[in-house]
Order: sequence, then structure tokens, then C-alpha cells
Amino acid sequence: MSERKPFVGGNWKMNTNRTTSAELARAVVDGLSSVSGVDVAVFPPFPYLLAIKSILRDRGSSIKLGAQDVYHQPDGAFTGEVSIDMLKDCGVQVALVGHSERRHVVGEKDELINLKTRAVLESGLECILCVGETLEQRLNGHTDSVNQRQIRTALAEVPGEQIDHLTIAYEPVWAIGTGKVATPEDAQDAHSKVRRLIETLYGSETAERIRIQYGGSLKPGNASEILAQPDVDGGLIGGAALKGADFVSLVRAAAQAAQNKD
Ligand code: 13P
Repeated sequence: MSERKPFVGGNWKMNTNRTTSAELARAVVDGLSSVSGVDVAVFPPFPYLLAIKSILRDRGSSIKLGAQDVYHQPDGAFTGEVSIDMLKDCGVQVALVGHSERRHVVGEKDELINLKTRAVLESGLECILCVGETLEQRLNGHTDSVNQRQIRTALAEVPGEQIDHLTIAYEPVWAIGTGKVATPEDAQDAHSKVRRLIETLYGSETAERIRIQYGGSLKPGNASEILAQPDVDGGLIGGAALKGADFVSLVRAAAQAAQNKD
């Protein structure tokens, strides 16, 4: 039986505008009003955070407001960056760190991701640390060593008592936005190894509690089997999170999967 409440995030990436982000938020809030047993967060682009927060608050929604990235420094001459306090000021409760598009498109390195992870967790915000291998790394048999390296370096000097605010998202890079999905067996295998690493680093109770999301081309038509895996505790959704009905259906699938695990 799983004690872990599933967690589903909608990462809107660099999509939507002022009008469509508000429409999407309303569709998600209304669609999920009768769904329980799942933690849900949405990650709009920075310029729309305040407006989406207002929509969530006005409708009394428990959906968390998320940021797609943060900067670890508290303030100063860091042109273009956004601090954790600024995000908190806008009502942000959870932040993504180390998303593969930050790693592979923008060029963020493990060391920077460690600074960001530490700063987010120290601030009391929830952190979703994203990890995952590229296609080349997978074909060379390096999936687990890449996940291990990314997690070990991101969590260097993170104390055990902060891990309850951490979620790990396993997002194989080759599956993101490509329509290719990990098989349920491959996802379970990677997730169970991530959980074992957390056990090595922080002990078995922490490892049992930590939530590990799967991300990569999850859609209503392919999600149920992956979400049913024992070590998969929800998902981080990109493309399908831009359609309110699809995102709602994925959250429902996570709720159903959790019930079946009980
Ligand atoms: P897709 O669902 O579009 O593959 O994106 C996954 C992702 O990167 C979520 O953070």
C-alpha cells in the first residue's frame, strides 16, 4: 500500500499569453473542483504568475502555484533573474529546478542546480528537482548513472530534514515533447533506483515518503499504466497540460492509480 499522495504538475513552459493562461487556469480549477486525493500544481510563465494566483485564490482552489525556475541569489545585479523572495511575493509555493530544458537548452550545470536546490529548500518553498538521461546516454546504458549523478550533485549539502519538501521528477530527455514515452517497466525501473539512492543518502523512511513523478509525453491515452507503477507518484506534464481537459483527465488518472494501489 502506498502512503504517498500523488502529485501532478502542469508545466506550461514558454506557452500561453495573458488571455489563454487565464482561460487555462480557470478550466483546470473548474475541472478539478470535485477531484481529491492528488496534489496539483501549475507552472505558468513568470509574467502571468500574479494573475494566475488571483484566479486560484478567488476560486478557493488548493492547486499550488509553481515557478518554472528560480535564481539562488537573494537580490542584486543579476539581470534577468528572479529571486525566491520575489516568487514568494507572487504567491509561488513550489519551484522546478534542473528541468532538462534548463540543462540542455540554456546550459545549466549540476553545480548551479545544486545552488538553486539548496536555496529553494532552505527558503521553505517546495522543490521539484528534474533529472533524466538523453537518448545517447540511454543507448549507452547510462540511464541510472546519469540520474544518480544529477541527484547526488543537486542534493549535496541538503540536510535530511529538508527532503520532505522535495519531489523528484524523472523526465527522460528523449521522451519530452517527442511523443515517445518510457515503457511502464522502464519508468518503474528508473524510479525504484532513484528511491534506492534516496534511501542510501537519507534512510529508508525518507525514501518511502519522497514522491517521484514521471514526465515525458504523458497523455490521457498512455498515462494509466505508468501511473499504476508502484514507484511512480504522479507526473509532470508539458504539452498535455496546455489543454485543460487533458490535464484534468491526467489528474483523475493519478487519483485512480493511487486508489488502486491502496
Ligand atoms: P511533455 O509532456 O510535453 O513531454 O513535457 C514534459 C515536461 O518536460 C514536463 O516538465
